[in-house]
Amino acid sequence: MSAAALRGCFVTGTDTEVGKTRVSAALLHWLGGRGLRCAGYKPVAAGTEAIDGEQVNEDVRALRDASSVALTDAEVGPCQFAAACAPHIAAALEGRTIERATLLQGAGTLAVRAEYLVVEGVGGFCVPLGADFDSADLAVDLGLPVMLVVGLRLGCINHALLSAEAIRARGLRLAGWVANAVDTAMPHRDANLATLRHELDVRHQASCLGVVSRLANPGPAAVAAQLDDARLQLLFGLSPGRASTVAP
Ligand SMILES: Nc1ncnc2c1ncn2[C@@H]1O[C@H](COP(=O)(O)OP(=O)(O)OP(=O)(O)O)[C@@H](O)[C@H]1O
Ligand SMILES: [Mg+2]
Repeated sequence: MSAAALRGCFVTGTDTEVGKTRVSAALLHWLGGRGLRCAGYKPVAAGTEAIDGEQVNEDVRALRDASSVALTDAEVGPCQFAAACAPHIAAALEGRTIERATLLQGAGTLAVRAEYLVVEGVGGFCVPLGADFDSADLAVDLGLPVMLVVGLRLGCINHALLSAEAIRARGLRLAGWVANAVDTAMPHRDANLATLRHELDVRHQASCLGVVSRLANPGPAAVAAQLDDARLQLLFGLSPGRASTVAP
């Protein structure tokens, strides 16, 4: 499989815990609702817990549940580690290493069964995965357009612009971004949003795909309902007339 064969997007974030999994699951829901075969992929996941009697990472399970094709935990998350810490450290704790080729191979296996992959990165954009590669290299290997989740809190403008510059420096396209309400008491939220819109548009030609509010239940359907259909169609290269087959 060549990376060029992949369709979908690579979801990164301004930081850890900013809503990448919630937004990725929403994108899968959106694609599945249009009758498309889609698969979530979490190539590297640190931190497992007992879910249905299995030790599994909760992001892996959330992406698996939101995928429209039936997948195993191992297919969605081929590299899961028990400790919830930086992935190269979690791997070292188990005497394991993260193999770059394995991560690309996992995407190839999913691409045989799914038309679209939604790949959730790990932490922010430049997280070390091994001695000589990081999560940005993984994004380059996959070659997918990058979608940035911006956690709305003080400092997010700087983090968003740094991330956008790093994405461009690796020769990748920042295809869009989603703002997610991390800090509900953020001062001057709308002014921050206006600056993000302006700077990311002018400097990086990246559009806002949605502003997600703090939800009591941030399930895939509820988050997807706050995303912009027309811009998602562009992100995924779908024709504007592609109808939804299920309610959002
Ligand atoms: N819009 C929202 N409304 C309510 N809760 C949210 C929202 N977005 C995220 N959360 C919650 O915040 C936490 C972090 O979100 P999420 O797991 O999606 O972040 P992440 O960027 O994927 O984190 P990680 O770096 O660990 O993968 C979760 O408990 C999630 O349910
Ligand atoms: Mg996550």
